[in-house]
Amino acid sequence: MKKIVIEGNHLLSGTVHIGGAKNSVVALIPASILTKGKCVIENVPDISDVRILIDTLKYLGSKVTFKDEVLTIDNSNVEPKAISEEFASKIRASYYFMGSFLSRFNTVDISCPGGCVIGTRPIDIHLEAFSKMGVKIKEDDGHYVMNTKKLEGKNIFFNFPSVGATINVMLSAVLAKGKTKIINAATEPEITNVASFLNSMGAKVFGAGTSTIEITGVEELHDGYVKVIPDRIEAGTYLIIGSLLGRNFKVDDIIEEHLYALISKLEDAGVKLKVGKNSITVNKTKNLKAVNIKTGVYPGFVTDLGQPMSAFLTQCEGESLFEETIYENRLRHVPHLNNMGADIKAFDKKAIIRGKTNLVGRKVKATDLRAGAAMLIAGMVANGTTTIYNIEHLLRGYERLVDKLNNVGANIKLIDE
Ligand code: EPU
Repeated sequence: MKKIVIEGNHLLSGTVHIGGAKNSVVALIPASILTKGKCVIENVPDISDVRILIDTLKYLGSKVTFKDEVLTIDNSNVEPKAISEEFASKIRASYYFMGSFLSRFNTVDISCPGGCVIGTRPIDIHLEAFSKMGVKIKEDDGHYVMNTKKLEGKNIFFNFPSVGATINVMLSAVLAKGKTKIINAATEPEITNVASFLNSMGAKVFGAGTSTIEITGVEELHDGYVKVIPDRIEAGTYLIIGSLLGRNFKVDDIIEEHLYALISKLEDAGVKLKVGKNSITVNKTKNLKAVNIKTGVYPGFVTDLGQPMSAFLTQCEGESLFEETIYENRLRHVPHLNNMGADIKAFDKKAIIRGKTNLVGRKVKATDLRAGAAMLIAGMVANGTTTIYNIEHLLRGYERLVDKLNNVGANIKLIDE
């Protein structure tokens, strides 16, 4: 079992480079199945979710190389084998094999997707869309078998702009007969990144990044190329850390626009950010002020930064209201923060965070990926030593986390016992 031991209160100077976005690459890899051509994906982060997807591709018959952040994939010999629990339950994004398999093979046999326990996370929106496009779905105890003669383009309205369902419908529609329109599509930057990849293969996807996406099916796709966009959640996590502990702390290789909601809230709290071309420099800010946070779909305040932000709010003077609107269980880390000296009252999907509180090092758990990031931030500002258990969650989403932080002056050890 792996754990992280943090000696708190070290100031951080220097530059942290942000890697490719987890939530993009976990869709791009299954999307490569759509073509028999060769795919090159650049700026791929070396995180465990990527390793799991590479193993899944190899099991399916792909030839894959992963070197210097470049993933080269040849799926010409991939077969529509069943994707069992062994692969599917390890990550959420395994559901993207549904869309890409249905497109290429008209069939998929796959176990329920896994992922962080942050809510019930149904996939009804994906399934309704598949069904509308002509897919027969059989579900038995979390195992799906789906078949179609040929996917058909349709107008598909989403009750909620789901990120996963938007990408899955794009994957299903690129080789379908006719035109598909997604109405009330998600607009997250990761969707635009996936659409660029599909279009590089010869797909016809228009409007990605807006709430209406139109896809005209084509006969066949060819070689594909894409560069993964910077991970806005990793960048945001480091900006939060820099606001608490930075001394000329530069977060590099970012896209500012993807971080507007966070930047605005940090500024409201009193943080001064110096925005460069692809970077933001930040310093430890004294007398931080309480701010209210309500998570939402893009360009709202992203749910994945809600938990890291809650750790930040413990260091702000006054009362902050925190409200999560996407998932039911994004507050499981609160008892761990309170154990470290925070004053947080959680109720329903809301929390009142009173600050500033002096945090002290304790033994705590990463209950999910972003909860782990919250505990990391708390441990880094706390007095004394914090040990975070269950950090497998954290390592799923943050590339070379310990090295990146120690390189700028943190004192963190990764222990594998
Ligand atoms: N939802 C449904 N039915 C569906 C699909 C979604 O009810 O068919 C609900 C979910 O239960 C949830 C909400 O809609 O309450 C949002 O779900 P969405 O489909 O938008 O999210 P996702 O595709 O499951 C991705 C990221 C999440 C990120 C969300 C929102 C991946 C693999 N995961 O999840 O990332 O929080 O979008 O931006 O891309 C993380 O990185 O920590 C993480 C959880």
